[in-house]
Amino acid sequence: MPTRRTTETRAGRNGVTDPSDHKTRRNGHAGRDVHLALGPRSYDILVRRGLLAHAGPEIAGRVVGGDARGRLAVVISNPKVDQSYGATVTRSLEDAGFRVRALAVPAGEVHKTLATVRRLYGSLHAEAADRRTIVVALGGGVIGDVAGYVAATYARGLDFVQIPTTLLAQVDSSVGGKVGVNFDSGKNLIGAFHQPRLVLIDPDTLYTLPRRELRSGLAEVIKYGIIYDKAFFQMLSREAAALVRLSSEHLEDAISRSCEIKARVVEQDERDEGLRAILNFGHTVGHALEAITRYRIYRHGEAIAIGMVSACLIGEEAGLTEGADTAAVIQAFRNAGFPQLGLDGRLPIEDILRLLSWDKKAVDGAARFVLLERIGRATPGHPVAEAAIRRALERQRGLSAP
Ligand SMILES: NC(=O)c1ccc[n+]([C@@H]2O[C@H](COP(=O)([O-])OP(=O)(O)OC[C@H]3O[C@@H](n4cnc5c(N)ncnc54)[C@H](O)[C@@H]3O)[C@@H](O)[C@H]2O)c1
Ligand SMILES: [Zn+2]
Repeated sequence: MPTRRTTETRAGRNGVTDPSDHKTRRNGHAGRDVHLALGPRSYDILVRRGLLAHAGPEIAGRVVGGDARGRLAVVISNPKVDQSYGATVTRSLEDAGFRVRALAVPAGEVHKTLATVRRLYGSLHAEAADRRTIVVALGGGVIGDVAGYVAATYARGLDFVQIPTTLLAQVDSSVGGKVGVNFDSGKNLIGAFHQPRLVLIDPDTLYTLPRRELRSGLAEVIKYGIIYDKAFFQMLSREAAALVRLSSEHLEDAISRSCEIKARVVEQDERDEGLRAILNFGHTVGHALEAITRYRIYRHGEAIAIGMVSACLIGEEAGLTEGADTAAVIQAFRNAGFPQLGLDGRLPIEDILRLLSWDKKAVDGAARFVLLERIGRATPGHPVAEAAIRRALERQRGLSAP
């Protein structure tokens, strides 16, 4: 049986602003703050332009109780991000009283490994880091995941602050407390739950991000609308092209509403035992496409945009999703300029199906899917027969480029 329970009250309000928005404060034109309520592990997610230059006082005030004097802050970044933003963050931390050490991890998913973690442990040890040390992740999801894992494990856990600089990291990986590294062929196989104490999002960092990375992150933003909030989805579909150009006045809203939806889901299922699965909408087929093409062809967001279309078509075959909703989803991704939404004819459907049944969401050989009941409401745990998946994927073959 598909699980329907917890989403009913919160996620089921098609098109209506989430009433828990009272947890989100507006700061005039400065942006919106989101609060993630997890008892003693609660934290704020601040979304404001120019925030990098205020990282020091925000961290001092919200994480160390005001007095940062003599505290060690270890800023983990990669050389490119550090070059653009490292000095601003370091200066702000030093002005607030922190002793700052910057550590670099080379760019790229291939460095999201235990070898990198071990090297970072060595640097922390050399700096005489102790339980009062704060780890600051400044970068994309790779940096956040590695630095977070180091923070989760060094000296049985250090305070950790996320300063995400890619759209994907701002709306997804920096929020929710999943940290970890890859191991051999296992993506994110070694990891922990370690919530940050604070997330600082400065949308101005996106101006240096390549457009393809930006569009890839936008796939996750659109995902939040599809699974949780119809009005948000409609706004995103309208604004998609302007958001990719960073010319939309809704950019900060798009980021903070995404964080808010993730926060609302994580609050109900911190350890990923139920509802949190809806965040994986489109990821079952998406991950299969990434794996088949050895992570070389698609950016993550490009693969899951295709995967979200698959999930809609699979939902249609299962009698759950309306064709009109599938069409609206396809249109939103077209508006954002995704180059491909059909299934590449060179990728054998058999290979995709084989990977689906290896996926961790499969139970007893039948793949379980997060499916769309209607835009604004996705539910997890739907078993779908292989024949129905095959029909859906065959149909997606015929989907032409925009
Ligand atoms: N922990 C979670 O919940 C979670 C969720 C989703 C994804 N992830 C992980 O996130 C990772 C992907 O994150 P990503 O997409 O941010 O990739 P990434 O961290 O590799 O960053 C992409 C590229 O952008 C560069 N970059 C970063 N910020 C920049 C900026 N402001 N301007 C210019 N260039 C910039 C980086 O150097 C890198 O080359 C994956 O490892 C994935 O597993 C984790
Ligand atoms: Zn994703």
